[in-house]
Amino acid sequence: MLLATTQVSLGTPPSASQNSDVYMGVIASAPAKVILLGEHFVVYGEPAIVLAIDKRAYAKAELRQDKRLYLRSANLNFSGYFENGIFEIEKGDIKEAKLKFAPLKLVVEKVLEIYGDNVGLDVEVNSTVPVAAGLGSSAAVAAAVAASVGTLLNVKLPKETIFHISYEAEKIVHGTPSGVDPAISTFGGTLLFQMDTGFKPLDVKTDVPLVIGYTGVRRSTRVQIAKVQKVKNKYPRVVEPMMKTAREIVLMAIDALKEGDLEKLGDLMNINHALLCGLGVSDESLESLINAARKASALGAKLTGAGGGGCMIALVQNERIEQVQEAIQRSGGTPFMAKKTNEGVKIEES
Ligand code: MEV
Repeated sequence: MLLATTQVSLGTPPSASQNSDVYMGVIASAPAKVILLGEHFVVYGEPAIVLAIDKRAYAKAELRQDKRLYLRSANLNFSGYFENGIFEIEKGDIKEAKLKFAPLKLVVEKVLEIYGDNVGLDVEVNSTVPVAAGLGSSAAVAAAVAASVGTLLNVKLPKETIFHISYEAEKIVHGTPSGVDPAISTFGGTLLFQMDTGFKPLDVKTDVPLVIGYTGVRRSTRVQIAKVQKVKNKYPRVVEPMMKTAREIVLMAIDALKEGDLEKLGDLMNINHALLCGLGVSDESLESLINAARKASALGAKLTGAGGGGCMIALVQNERIEQVQEAIQRSGGTPFMAKKTNEGVKIEES
């Protein structure tokens, strides 16, 4: 038996009918992700395998009578108005809110650029994805905002455009991201992602049962990326072979996924985690959950995303899932199951 709830839910999807006396607005959603293998190395051109999961971020866009942009985040409890570059706070700390809203403002501006006119908008975001946890919440929110505003204004936004807009927003948040997060939030499914060659959907027939363990420690992807950059600059001859090994791991994992060889996949996850430890992006909270999962018979366990806290994943045979979840919980983490989803960004209600 689990000791407490296995759900990590920081919000509920908004409903378009909440304000049914005014224009209904458009609600869009986009999925969070787990990186199965290859995070950080992907920033330097190596491949990564990433899965969209059934936790989604939602954005609701409505027209305003004036020309202001009103942004509200239900999860962060921030809201405020942008007008002519000036930000006026409604709720929350002005500095923090302005910083958090900057990528969303950019997304809206990019869509308005394509629309060709400046209109006032209310945009509300709400996410069932834990924030700053390595599950790609910022990219999912950005993709959902682009889709909701685009559809509201009747702007044709192909998924490629939503990806590019969300990637621009991610650069504001994370500095030099690879683009893996906006790609998966936009397109969904299971992707082999590489910066120079783009991404390729992977046809994964086998079930990949993953338990996610949330450490509860929030961290900044930007800081973790900078940490790796520092190690790489200081020890290039050490890190270069690690990059090659990371690439081999991903290539072998593609075969393991094709063959349904979960044991091999688990081993590769463990080796990948050792490399990430070497880069300095694991921490005590992650190590504790990863060790607990392995002791409870997970086939493999590693951090997922940027590390430094956030989430870990464990590959687990179906009959061991409860055991691994309990072990994660006893070690102070919040376990939950992730189901992969093929659904990328989509319109929920319009
Ligand atoms: C973040 O989800 C994954 C990193 O590899 C950064 C990136 O690829 O943008 C750490």
